[in-house]
Amino acid sequence: MKQKKTWLITGASKGFGLALVKQLLQKGYNVAATSRTIAQLESAAGPSAPGFLPLEMDITSEASVKEGVDKAVAHFGGIDVVVNNAGYGLIGSLEELSDAEVRGNFEVNVFGTLNIIRATMPHLRKQGSGFVFNISSIGGFYGDFPGWGIYCATKFAVHGLTESFAAEVKPFGVKVVDVAPGYFRTNFLSSGSILTPAAPIDAYKEVRDSQAAHQDGINGNQPGDPDKAAEVMIAVSESENPPLHLFLGEDAYGLAHKKIDAVKAQLEEWRHLATATSFS
Ligand SMILES: NC(=O)c1ccc[n+]([C@@H]2O[C@H](COP(=O)([O-])OP(=O)(O)OC[C@H]3O[C@@H](n4cnc5c(N)ncnc54)[C@H](OP(=O)(O)O)[C@@H]3O)[C@@H](O)[C@H]2O)c1
Repeated sequence: MKQKKTWLITGASKGFGLALVKQLLQKGYNVAATSRTIAQLESAAGPSAPGFLPLEMDITSEASVKEGVDKAVAHFGGIDVVVNNAGYGLIGSLEELSDAEVRGNFEVNVFGTLNIIRATMPHLRKQGSGFVFNISSIGGFYGDFPGWGIYCATKFAVHGLTESFAAEVKPFGVKVVDVAPGYFRTNFLSSGSILTPAAPIDAYKEVRDSQAAHQDGINGNQPGDPDKAAEVMIAVSESENPPLHLFLGEDAYGLAHKKIDAVKAQLEEWRHLATATSFS
């Protein structure tokens, strides 16, 4: 019989992370899950199950990440699937958001992901196998959303580094998937997750309207079910040839096509001029 696989999931006290933890434990996988607050994770995940290792981790601290990953490897004897899930949204125009607010978002969404990659890769490389899901967003592929520029920038960064990462670790038998969800009904748009500028500027009416639409209208009404997303990810983790890009949800699927079609049309429309640049 195939040995039980071990997953490591960051940001697991709510949303996608928690949905994954619950389903994986129910299906008999080993799960090491991280949270900034272990008590919150333990109470959200329910009664402790065999095969569950809750870990308190600050993904922005390299030392904390290394300590947690080492504990998971010592406890389970290895890690098979890594999910870089922890992240948060930031709504505000580029002019409104302070340097500290922008860097904070990059610190978690991008540098946190890199900390986990650096701590887990030595183990995956040594065992000659592994699977990494980097959770980016449809906003990491399609950026036409007023007020979401910095969040999109963090997720475009995740998308970009994931493409290179996949090529780098393929020789070690490690598979990598960039997950780009559309709107899913998690805590993502609720206070406690989403952040807004400390110094808003009234003139940015479109941005405030988008903020209100997301916090008051879309929040709680997102079409995507995180439990179904977790099911899809578990199925993909078991596939021999997983996709590099996994757009989750009908909305993400539609926006990905919209972007691809627009880029293709512009490529052709401007081809004559844009390619007239070689030495001749
Ligand atoms: N829901 C969506 O519509 C959607 C769409 C596209 C992409 N995503 C991405 O999906 C991932 C999971 O989000 P979710 O939708 O499940 O949202 P969520 O319910 O708010 O959960 C986010 C998780 O990330 C961690 N997190 C949040 N803010 C953090 C911070 N400042 N520092 C460190 N960790 C933090 C939290 O972990 P702890 O509190 O346990 O530490 C939390 O469990 C994120 O990367 C998000 O960008 C979500």
